[in-house]
Amino acid sequence: MKILVLYGTTDGQTAKICAFIAETLRAKGAVVTLADIATPGTSVDLRDYQAAIVAASIHVGQYQRAVVDFARANHARLNDMPSAFVSVSLSTVNSDSEERLSLETCVENFKAYTGWTNAQVHHVAGAIRTTGYDFFKRWTTKLLAWEKNLKLEPGKDLELTDWRALAATLDALYARFAEATPRTDTSG
Ligand SMILES: Cc1cc2nc3c(=O)[nH]c(=O)nc-3n(C[C@H](O)[C@H](O)[C@H](O)COP(=O)(O)O)c2cc1C
Repeated sequence: MKILVLYGTTDGQTAKICAFIAETLRAKGAVVTLADIATPGTSVDLRDYQAAIVAASIHVGQYQRAVVDFARANHARLNDMPSAFVSVSLSTVNSDSEERLSLETCVENFKAYTGWTNAQVHHVAGAIRTTGYDFFKRWTTKLLAWEKNLKLEPGKDLELTDWRALAATLDALYARFAEATPRTDTSG
């Protein structure tokens, strides 16, 4: 099965998550193309794939613009093929109803704007990479961490991605993709 894993990332955690997704799916036998939408010259034709995973992270309530534009331009095919949207954020670590609502709003806005209305959404916790941030981002994320009850240690990054849970999600996702993809019988 040929699977596209296409992502947008601002600080690198979604890239790391998608590298893990690609590696896990390859280990299951899939032929995976891993593409960073921000790489100049990136151009994909979804007709070349049997399934697609699109990923983006939330920054101040918004997903990366290039991913949103890609989903909008390709919504008809995405609605039609086995596909999934991976939403990376910090809100997902918090079960607080306000945080849940803010996540739901991001996803609903994404679906409504792009037209990828049947997107199956998987929420994955991201990271706070304070060591790589500028002054403004350090303060923004300190505030975010405080709002979300996350404990930051000075000078240390905080990775909240649950790799085991992600692997379990991928097991289910791959099974769903395989079920929806007609097998090519080469036995003659
Ligand atoms: C400036 C900034 C704003 C953010 N805003 C949000 C937000 O509104 N909601 C949220 O859940 N997470 C927010 N986050 C957390 C990111 O989604 C998280 O750090 C994620 O891992 C970023 O993925 P990336 O490294 O692929 O860009 C924000 C992070 C930064 C640095």
